[in-house]
Order: sequence, then structure tokens, then C-alpha cells
Amino acid sequence: MNDPFQAVRVSDRVYWVGAIDWSIQDFHGYLTSRGTTYNAYLVLADAITLIDTVKAPFREELLARVRSVVNPGDIRYVISNHAEMDHSGSLPEVVKVVKPEKVFTSTMGAKALGQHFGSGLDLTAVKDGDTLSLGNLALTFLETRMLHWPDSMVTYLAEEKLLFSQDGFGMHLASSERYADEIEENVLEREGAKYFANILLPYSPLVLKLLDRIGKLGIVINAIAPDHGPIWRKSLDTIIGWYAKWATQEPTDKAVIVYDTMWQSTEKMARAIADGIAAGGARAKLLSLKSRHRSDVVTEVLDAGALLVGSPTMNNQMFPTVADVLTYLRGLKPQHLAGAAFGSYGWSGEAVGQIERILQEMKVELIGEGIKVQYVPGDELKRRCRALGEAVAGKIRKRARKGVGR
Ligand code: FEO
Repeated sequence: MNDPFQAVRVSDRVYWVGAIDWSIQDFHGYLTSRGTTYNAYLVLADAITLIDTVKAPFREELLARVRSVVNPGDIRYVISNHAEMDHSGSLPEVVKVVKPEKVFTSTMGAKALGQHFGSGLDLTAVKDGDTLSLGNLALTFLETRMLHWPDSMVTYLAEEKLLFSQDGFGMHLASSERYADEIEENVLEREGAKYFANILLPYSPLVLKLLDRIGKLGIVINAIAPDHGPIWRKSLDTIIGWYAKWATQEPTDKAVIVYDTMWQSTEKMARAIADGIAAGGARAKLLSLKSRHRSDVVTEVLDAGALLVGSPTMNNQMFPTVADVLTYLRGLKPQHLAGAAFGSYGWSGEAVGQIERILQEMKVELIGEGIKVQYVPGDELKRRCRALGEAVAGKIRKRARKGVGR
């Protein structure tokens, strides 16, 4: 009987030898509802080379896929494009099995891998622009510092016009299909946007610089092979265009209203604000933290023009779920947002001010003072919420027409 773990041919000289994690749901705080893949690639050059490894529990899956093509002992070089453990976790054990002549990584990668795994790994650092001869083929390394770790780099195989892009252009999407052109585009766009929003968003300016750099270098890319999700071999303009759009964060006429509620008062305010936004001709997306995960909230914020945050006050604090999502959003640094805070309270009402301070730290342009109500919103308070929604709609429609920079 054949081993169930077979390599997948990417080109005559490149095979996918990664692993599929169908069941992961929590990727360091990111809800990965569709699972993920840890992609690794085998380059069948004169010097056979393995590009990246997989998360530690998937080591045998990787090695089985390698064995379906070559004897692991025939691998001469291993490349580590990224030190994060979803790609390096099995590196020490794989190196023990493969016994490569060299393990190449970036300068920062050598430091990071040493800090992860100690001095047992014999690492050779490569610099930005270095080329490694594999005999009949060659690999060129481009450092992509802070995309999204200091050690990050990508590797280009000129003979196949193939870019091994590490986390970039990836997505958390487990599938039996290995190619993007075999998967519905709306799924790719949603999961690609979610990945960008949750992993790459703070480094958007670097994404734009990288796209510019690749253009200026004149590198021809016929396929992009990331470390998560499907490989792009057709319509590369689609994913590159999405990246340019997401990294630019052009504000749209969409307002995200994220809130939690204790006795539905803050929820009533959220609904009144949403009514006002719709009445003002903009789009409202209402996200209750009772059912929405922080990673889905930031995905919605990625193309929003406004962020409104509602919370009850409980024990003089904003609600814990609201603190969670704000901590997460603040770190991911979304840009070009207008916003406001709102919420119900019983006797002290600190939450709205606490939220406003965080929104200001995030450089969200506050539209008027936050709205708070003691216990239950009446008709007049709901009218104020609706008026806030209309003001938000006016602001974001204007910004959306003018674009970034307003
Ligand atoms: Fe897929 Fe940054 O690791």
C-alpha cells in the first residue's frame, strides 16, 4: 500500500512536501476556522534542497512526503526562510535525519534559530541578494525583515521563476487542493484578507516597499509558493493586487461597530448607530463579541472607514471582551479610521472614556464625544446614537471619495 503522504509536483524540479493541519482552530490567538497547511518544498537540483520545514508534530508527514520523491539523506541543503516554529519546529529533528551539508538562513534567522533551539544547529547565514548555486539551478535570497519577523526572507528560483515567499501571500486554509486556481476565489480573498489583517497589517508599508522592490528588480515571477495555503501558478495579479489594496488600507464607506453587552442596552445603542449609518448612505457591519472572534473583527476593519466600539461598564472597567479586542486591534495598527465609543453603565460609566483613550492611541479620529447612558437607552438617547451614525456616514463617505490622505 502506498504511503498516504505523497509529495505533490509543482514543476519538473520542485515538489511540495508540506503538511496539512485540518484541525487547528487557534493559531496563537487567530481563529483558523479552516485549518492551515505548513508548506515545505523540495528542489530537485544537482544539490537537492529542502526549503523550510513544518511544525514539530508534523515532522513525519514532511519526511514521508520527501521519501516519496528522494531519500532524505540525499538532501544536501536546507533553507530556513523563517524561524517561527510553525516552519522551524521540526528543523532540529529533520536535520538529524537528513544530515545536510549546510543549513542556510538569514543573519537574523541564525540568531533567532539559535535562541529557539540552542547551538546544536550548524547554521550558515546568507545576506540580502546572495545567490546559492545548486549546480544546475540557483537560489537567490531576499531579506524581508519584519515581514513579519526580523529573520524573515524569501527565496527565488530563477530557472523556474518561482518565489518561495514564506508567510507572505499565504493564508490559513487547509485543503486537498494545492493550487489557488483550484479553489473558489471568494474563499481565497476572504482567507487571504484574514491572514493579512491578523499577521501582516502592522507592516503594511513594508509590503508596499517589497512589491515596489520586486518590480524594480525586474524579477519575473510565474508562481508564488507560500508557507501556508495554496500555491499561486495562475492569475498572480489577483493576489498581488489584493496585497497592494490591503497594504494601502484605502478607507471605504463601511463602518464596523464592535460591542459587547450585559443587558442589551449597549446592543440597543449599537443598533441605533447602525440605523443612522445606513440612513446616512454608508454601510454598517455590526459585530457582537458574544459571537465574533477578535481575528474576524480585524478582518472586517481591514477595509473599513470607521471603527465604533461599545461596552458596558462593569466594576469600573470596560467589558473584558472589549478590552481583548482593543488590545488586539491596537497592536495590529489599522490606519485611516474615524470612530467613536459608546456604552451603557449603572453608576460610574468609565468604559466609554477608557475606549476613547485607546482609540486615540490608535490614531482613530474621534467623531464627537462618546455616548453613554445610565441603565437603559430611551428614545432621546437612541436619537443621539442615530445622529452619531449619520455623522459617521457623512465622514466616511467623504473620505472614501477622496481616498487615503483625505
Ligand atoms: Fe507561518 Fe510567521 O509563521
